[in-house]
Amino acid sequence: MSETKQIVVLAGDGIGPEIVGATRQVLDAVGSFEYTEHLIGGASIDEHGVALTDEVIVACKDSDAVLLGAVGGPKWDEAVAKDPTAPRPEQGLLGIRKALGLYANLRPVKPSPALIDASPLKKELIDGTDLLVVRELTGGIYFGASGRRDDNGGTAYDECAYSVPEIERITRAAFEAARQRSDNPRVLSVDKANVLETSRLWRETVKKVAEDYPDVQLDHLLVDFAAMKLVSSPAEIDVIVTENLFGDILSDEAAMLTGSLGMLPSASIGAEGDPGLFEPVHGSAPDIAGQGVANPLATMLSAAMMLRYGLGDGEAADRIESAVDAVLEKGLRTPDIYEGGEGETRVGTEEVTAAVLAELAQG
Ligand SMILES: NC(=O)c1ccc[n+]([C@@H]2O[C@H](COP(=O)([O-])OP(=O)(O)OC[C@H]3O[C@@H](n4cnc5c(N)ncnc54)[C@H](O)[C@@H]3O)[C@@H](O)[C@H]2O)c1
Repeated sequence: MSETKQIVVLAGDGIGPEIVGATRQVLDAVGSFEYTEHLIGGASIDEHGVALTDEVIVACKDSDAVLLGAVGGPKWDEAVAKDPTAPRPEQGLLGIRKALGLYANLRPVKPSPALIDASPLKKELIDGTDLLVVRELTGGIYFGASGRRDDNGGTAYDECAYSVPEIERITRAAFEAARQRSDNPRVLSVDKANVLETSRLWRETVKKVAEDYPDVQLDHLLVDFAAMKLVSSPAEIDVIVTENLFGDILSDEAAMLTGSLGMLPSASIGAEGDPGLFEPVHGSAPDIAGQGVANPLATMLSAAMMLRYGLGDGEAADRIESAVDAVLEKGLRTPDIYEGGEGETRVGTEEVTAAVLAELAQG
């Protein structure tokens, strides 16, 4: 990656500025970036009265990638409790995802060997797990017609629809991601084709797209079996591709395999060549904001995803991920992942960031 990349930084609220600030230092150690900082969420409501301005949308669209911290906090929740029409910080997130046309959400689950004991699963089950959930974000039941009918004492309905182009593009995103992750790529398409017509179209379409990817092994699994497999043999899974509702549930189930919320990155991507959005899975952690103890590693790992999936620099991504692993291996732990075990040292945001930078300087 030679030329300087333009990154829009949306630090957001709570610990957002702390974890994003730490991550910028790490990015600067592996490449050349120009940052433009903008407000989103509660910080934007305070300044502009809305969670996302048109100016920020334009800046994001003009960038190479967007790095986001987190939004929200009790101050704005209280305002909404008093006046339900008051602006909400999450409107900023939903707004930017929509404006950028982000249709694929990528969530890797790869417990660091040093944190394997934090998993709720037995060590022998979780060992070797390195999977990616690719979830369709803009279609399906969450966006279909919904409503109520005044019959039989009241009926509610939510319509689920998927078009072939919607299925094709998410399938391609999954196959491309699988290729970027390994030399032996495998994709597991998850549906409910024994019951749902949308799932039958999903399966047919995935099979057709797969013809363009003969190097990628394709399997299909019903969503109920996939939910079981995630907790019984997660290490056998490489890339899962699935629709919006199933992906919502399976990605949270998969996230819990690590047991460490402060460690989970995510990426949301749109059309080829358009900027993606990269953010940690956790929220703005208002309970610890400003104390210098926030865990910045999920945001650093999100920056690694930005490099791999957004800026085409898998090598720099690998460097960040290895540096994070090395720091954990040395026992450095922010309070959220500190368990007091032998060899563990409790540290703050600054110290853990300095340790990651030191690893990068060595390698
Ligand atoms: N994508 C987002 O921006 C996003 C996601 C979830 C929640 N939220 C918002 O964040 C606010 C707080 O929500 P919540 O408390 O339910 O979830 P949260 O993820 O912010 O916090 C849950 C718990 O995990 C801890 N935690 C989270 N991230 C951490 C980190 N990096 N380092 C150390 N500890 C960490 C927090 O201190 C807290 O105890 C709410 O306003 C919520 O709406 C935003």
